[in-house]
Amino acid sequence: MGPRRMDAAFSLGHRFAHLARGCASSSMAQTQGSVRQELSSLFGSAMASAFPGVEVTPYVAQTNDAKFGDYQCNNAMALFGKLKGKEGAPKNPRLVAEAIVSALPASPLIASTSLAGPGFINVVLSRDWLAARLQGLLTEGVASWAPAGYAGRRVVVDFSSPNVAKEMHVGHLRSTILGDCIARTLEYCGADVLRLNHIGDWGTQFGMLIQYMAEKRPGGLQASTEEDVADLQVLYRAAKQRFDEDEAFKTRSREAVTELQGGREEYLEAWRRICDASRREFQKIYDRLGVRLQERGESFYNPRLRETVDALVEQGVAVESEGAKCVFFPKRDVPLIVQKSDGGFGYASTDMAALWQRLHEENADWIIYITDVGQANHFAMVFEAGERAGYLPKDRTVRIDHVGFGLVMGEDGKKFKSRSGDTVRLVELLDEAKDRCRATIRERRPDIDEEELEAATCAMGYGAVKYADLKNNRLTNYRFSYDEMLNMQGDTAVYLLYAHARIAAIIRKSGRDVVDLANSASIALADPREVALAIQIARFSEAVDDLLADLSPNRLTSYLYDLSGVFNQFYTECQVIGSDHEDSRLLLCEATAVIMRQCFSLLGITALYRI
Ligand code: ARG
Repeated sequence: MGPRRMDAAFSLGHRFAHLARGCASSSMAQTQGSVRQELSSLFGSAMASAFPGVEVTPYVAQTNDAKFGDYQCNNAMALFGKLKGKEGAPKNPRLVAEAIVSALPASPLIASTSLAGPGFINVVLSRDWLAARLQGLLTEGVASWAPAGYAGRRVVVDFSSPNVAKEMHVGHLRSTILGDCIARTLEYCGADVLRLNHIGDWGTQFGMLIQYMAEKRPGGLQASTEEDVADLQVLYRAAKQRFDEDEAFKTRSREAVTELQGGREEYLEAWRRICDASRREFQKIYDRLGVRLQERGESFYNPRLRETVDALVEQGVAVESEGAKCVFFPKRDVPLIVQKSDGGFGYASTDMAALWQRLHEENADWIIYITDVGQANHFAMVFEAGERAGYLPKDRTVRIDHVGFGLVMGEDGKKFKSRSGDTVRLVELLDEAKDRCRATIRERRPDIDEEELEAATCAMGYGAVKYADLKNNRLTNYRFSYDEMLNMQGDTAVYLLYAHARIAAIIRKSGRDVVDLANSASIALADPREVALAIQIARFSEAVDDLLADLSPNRLTSYLYDLSGVFNQFYTECQVIGSDHEDSRLLLCEATAVIMRQCFSLLGITALYRI
């Protein structure tokens, strides 16, 4: 089966707002939507009943200042503009706001509303409702706090995707960390996620490698064993040098690719050996980082390439140009080359075949690709070509995103290199992060046993690397600095792991069983610090929703960092153990800890209880 001709064009990369509200509800009985989602739906119905027939998306946000309330609905001003000139339209935005407020359905969420400025509607949440919400977190579990709208969606996340026989570099590390976080978040929200490792395991480099192996070894290819590809970097470099220097070798290498792709058995054998060796290397990194991936490399799509390209040509989407088959775009200078002039298929051909396969065989309704921003144009062209070729199924709304990210730079702001000037090997990078943590932990806990030390070191070292990556706006380049990422005071995993362990220590010190307590005592919110903490805790679902809306994990890291700040203020001013409010405040501590752990889990960081 190959791509088929389809008529309708679909817009790509659009948000599925209408689906996010409606379609997923059947399979997600346990989730309840974030506070913002619930308020949005209340204001949505208020606006629909106050101004029937007017299209409007509810715009609800947290207030900047608690003295105005907890949340705000900001629709009145824009709505006023829309209504202007219509019969019976309100005379000013404030009147629009008043009409919305009087149409608000009764709800246990809202304690009161007030108007401010030209037409802002401020909302104070009911403290009892908020307390009950937090209680629910403790009695029902954090799964019940996943934002609504994602359950049951079939999502392909294409990430990590290093290239066989080449170095898995920091760029792939970024893709791995970002992709894992996005996949974890989608899984938490009940999506059906396919984590794909689209490794570069097919292409011209194999001709060069195989030819080099065949010529270098006295007994030819058959004589080689697993050992011969043990150090792929060395093999790759040597073969590449020969390839660049020796024209005749270059030609033989090209022939070797053709033979490999044609299925010559001993070549396939060698290819498999090379892939196996790379796979073992990649797996070491994934194991350390706790990342799960399903390998489906470029070679998987090989049998589909010809059909894919033929169909594109038949549809007139691809045309012949200087012997190659290309898709041209009116607003771009470069075409997408789906078949090279020598008849070979490349990266783009594979991505076209993969796009079709994911949409029609995997039934994806959301596909996410995670690579450096340098590939943004490539993906924009692939998506547009897919749209033109009618790949997108008519019966489903599909969202497709390329999640680009910037470069990782060294501390000097230049290309990230090791001290010896070579590219940094990821294993060494992770080792160094770990080693640096080891001493700190031992210093603080001289009695720690080896096993616990090792676990804490991994959690902290790998956690620090992941967090430092995730907390940046993914599009900007970031400086890789061990000192910064391991700083105990700043916005780092180390600081947050300590913050969590401190809360765990408070709970231990109380000697109470907080799980029992959650079922026997109730949370009461009186002090403004308690309220502020409760609101911040409840905002978790919004942070998750924000992360998925722009596929930016930094939305969650900044939420987590803020949470620890709000907790600190609460803890500095509100006595917990030994106070009259001990039960309720212990439950607030526990709710904070539960949410921190859930954030860690979505970020791929292992929580520590004692450090
Ligand atoms: N192997 C590619 C690289 O290292 C990344 C592949 C991304 N996925 C894709 N479907 N093109 O740049």
